[in-house]
Parts: sequence; C-alpha cells; structure tokens
Amino acid sequence: MPPASASNLTVIVLAAGGGTRMKSKTMKVLHPLGGRSMIGHVLLAVQAIEPRRIVAVVGHQRDQVGAHIRSLVPDVVLAVQEDQHGTGHAVRVAMEALEGDGAGSGTVIVAYGDTPLLEGESLRAFAQEHEAAQRAVSILSGVVSDPYGYGRVVRDADGDVVAIVEEKDASRDEREIREINSGILAFDAAFLLDALPRLGNDNSKGEYYLTDTVGIARDAGLTVGAFAIDDVMQTEGANDRVQLAELGREMNRRIVTRWMRDGVTVMDPATTWIDADVVLAEDVTILPGTQLLGTTVVLEDAVIGPDTTLRDCEIGAGARVVRAHGELAVVRDGATVGPYSYLRPGTILGRDGKIGAFVETKNATIGDGAKVPHLSYVGDAEIGEGTNIGAGTIFANYDGVAKHRTRVGRHARTGSNNTFIAPVEIGDGAGTAGGTVVRRDVPPGALAVSSGPQRNHEGWALSRRPGTAQAEAAEAAGARPDGEREASHEAPDVGAGPYGGPES
Ligand code: UD1
Ligand code: CA
Repeated sequence: MPPASASNLTVIVLAAGGGTRMKSKTMKVLHPLGGRSMIGHVLLAVQAIEPRRIVAVVGHQRDQVGAHIRSLVPDVVLAVQEDQHGTGHAVRVAMEALEGDGAGSGTVIVAYGDTPLLEGESLRAFAQEHEAAQRAVSILSGVVSDPYGYGRVVRDADGDVVAIVEEKDASRDEREIREINSGILAFDAAFLLDALPRLGNDNSKGEYYLTDTVGIARDAGLTVGAFAIDDVMQTEGANDRVQLAELGREMNRRIVTRWMRDGVTVMDPATTWIDADVVLAEDVTILPGTQLLGTTVVLEDAVIGPDTTLRDCEIGAGARVVRAHGELAVVRDGATVGPYSYLRPGTILGRDGKIGAFVETKNATIGDGAKVPHLSYVGDAEIGEGTNIGAGTIFANYDGVAKHRTRVGRHARTGSNNTFIAPVEIGDGAGTAGGTVVRRDVPPGALAVSSGPQRNHEGWALSRRPGTAQAEAAEAAGARPDGEREASHEAPDVGAGPYGGPES
C-alpha cells in the first residue's frame, strides 16, 4: 500500500484506558480475536499506510501493553499517560513524547487501540481525503442507527461541521443526530500543537476532550470536515466481552468470506473459524466445525474437517485431515490424518503417509508412505518410508527422568500391541511379532519376538468355571475337562492380520 502522505504522517494510537468493563486481569487491547490481540489488528492497519512514526499512548498495565506493542512495532514511540484525563490529554502526552522530532508539521492521525476491524485501506483513504482538503481537522464519521454513547457530529444549516458534542454533554436535539465521531481524527500537526493546550475540562466528565479541537478550529476560521466511512464496524470498539465476541464473529465472517471468494470451499461458514494469518490455497475444502488457527497453511485440494482444530500447522496438497487436533505439525502432500488423531508439536507426516484413528504423535518424523493406522502413541520417533506400525503400539520415550528417541527404518513391519522402549532402533526391513516389547536394537531384516511361547490349558473352562455360560459354550464346541485332550495348538507367536501381526 503506498504511503498516505509522502511527507510527514504520524499516527497516534490511544491505549491507556483501563478497559474495566472487560472485568479481566488482561488489559482490554491485549484480548485476542482472529489470532491476534485487538491492538495487534489496529497496528497492522496503521503499519499498512507506512506512517513516518507511530506513537502508542499507554497507561494501565503499561509494562505489558508497551512490551506487546513494541514486539509488534519495534520502532514505536511509547508515551506514558500516568493518569487518564481524557483523549485530549492522551494526545498531548503523545505529542510531548515527540518533541524536537519535527512533530509540528505534516499530518497526525489519532486512532484507538480497541478497533480490531479497522483496515489500512480505510485509514489511507481518510488521510488522503484530509490532506487533499487541507483541513485543520477531519473526522472519520459514520452514520449509525443507534448513536447512543458516541460523540455526535454537529453541522450548521449549510451542512458544514461545527463541533463534536459528547453524549453526556449533548442537548436533546443533538442526541437525535445519527452521524457519530468514530474516534479516528486527522489533524494538521501545527494546528494540533496549537490547540491541545487550549483544551479545557469543563464538561460533564471533567476530561480534556480531543473532540473539542473541532470547535476550536471552527472558531479560528479554519477548515474542518467529516469523511463518512460506509463500513462503520471497522471503527467499532469492544468494551466488554459481549462486544469482543461480536467483533470476533464479524472478523471471522469477513475472513471466511474472503477465502471463499479466493476459491476455498467452506461448507458451513458459521462453524468455521479462520485466524487472520492463516493462508489457504485454491480448492481447499473446509468441512463444518473446523478451526484453522495461528499461522496454519493449507495447500490446494486438501480437505480439512469436520471437527478439526489446527494451530500453526502445514497441510500439503491433497491431504485429508478428519476430526483431528494438531499443533505445530506438518502433513505432507497426499497424507491422511484421523479420525480422532492428536498431532502434537514436531510431528512431520511424509507424503502419502497415514496417521490413523486414536493416534497421538509428538516430535515424530513419519516417512513418505509410512503408516501408523490405529491406537498408538508415537513420541520422539523417526519412522522410515513405507514402514507400517502395528495397531496399539507405544513408543515409550520417557524413562521417568529423560526422553529418548526411537528409530524405525524403511519398509519395516511391526506387530500389533508393541512397546518400543527408547532409545532403541529397529532396522530397515525388520519386523516385530505381535506383543513384542522391543528393548534392544533389531538389526535390518530381523524379526524380533519377545513374548514367551503360548501355552493352552485344555479344558480350563469346564474345570474351573463349571456351570457357567462360558463352560457350556466350550462343551458345546467339543471341549472336555482338564487334560482329557492333548495340548495341540503350539502356534508360533507371530500372528497375522490387522490385530495379530505385521500386516496391519
Ligand atoms: C470517544 C470520543 C467520542 C467518540 C468515541 C468513539 C472523545 C472525548 N470522545 O468517546 O466522540 O464517539 O470515542 O468510540 O474523544 N484513552 C486514553 N487516555 C485517556 C482517555 C482515553 O488513552 O485519558 C483511550 C481509551 O483507552 C480508548 C480511547 O482513548 O481507547 C477512547 O476513550 P473513551 O474514554 O472510551 O472515549 P469515549 O467516551 O468512548
Ligand atoms: Ca469508547
């Protein structure tokens, strides 16, 4: 976005107020929506117009608020307003913080830290309009159905702006005015410096109103004017948690709408939540009940959901993620996840790989085409390409003191209900029998078997559980009491099929 003013634009963001109606130990402007703090959204809009400097006025909890602002805008000028005596006082504190830095010329825009829907494009249009009209003061106004609580834009018979009158100071007639001051004002800097010391606090709140500058300019015969924004919600603030939720829902509606216009299928926009920094490719499909959060990126043709939450994840082209919860995980092209999978940080699932039902993974690199299909915990692991991990396998990574890694090679086949006691390595092309507890390395191509041979106590049900349904069923199937038949089933302990052995 080109700068609004090539010359000299200063933006002051007010964030000193307590925000008591939030009833929170967290300052109002730090409350998040769409994956960013309220003030984070405002600062992004402000940065988009490339002002020469940004001043933030902090007061309540200034350490936390100031540090947060500086983390987002490293070269911000922080001005501390010890006690909050009104918006006029706040701007005076901001201008004092700039003293000796050429703040007396150019344009100054004042915005609030609690208007998260504000867009840079609107600020830029406002600044340009203000500068083109060469006004002392411009008001970003809006026409609303319920103006209660706002300052009203008072115009004379010719329609020229005369003053802003605050709700508490307004006459009956003035209260009928539906054109309100959004709070965002633009000033000629020299005029602002001149007007600020002249503000009084003789009003119903006993505060120094920044809005009184409009009357001061008018009385001095300077130009003032208002620029109405159509999209009034961009300037709406959240004062309590009800309004925070409303603005959050509206922000989400806007983000989801934008992605649909950019070629993403969203089956149910109302139950789909997408944070501001998420990036989606064309032909991504999002099914109901899905939250894409943080810096999640989803590539084309991937299908996410239903009922999936992904935070800071990377999902490859054509991948499928069903009813999963993922954080800081990477799922490469064509891979499938879910249903009911938990991908914790450090999970990397290779191309065409699979993390199946009731599987939890953490710090695990699962190779291309490798599969962990059922009921497993895979922590601190490397699994080679094409390998299949049997159902119900636990990568026992924690010895009670430290975490250790497990390596499984390429094209290995491990049996069901295995436990891999880390640190341990299973070689390329190796196998393990069902129920194996792997405590020592398995060489490439070897089959590890750790459980003892199976013994069958013939006739056990009839001898030890006589008269039960179990015994009856056994008898009907030809069983006889203890020892009457020779033990005959000495099967090798390898098993087969999805629940018995290597072919899962
Ligand atoms: C203000 C405007 C009003 C406008 C409305 C829009 C004034 C006098 N009134 O009223 O015309 O319609 O916003 O929402 O400007 N702040 C400080 N320091 C202070 C006082 C306020 O930093 O000493 C900050 C607050 O944190 C807040 C913003 O300025 O972010 C607005 O202050 P607030 O007291 O909410 O003003 P309103 O009464 O809503
Ligand atoms: Ca307010």
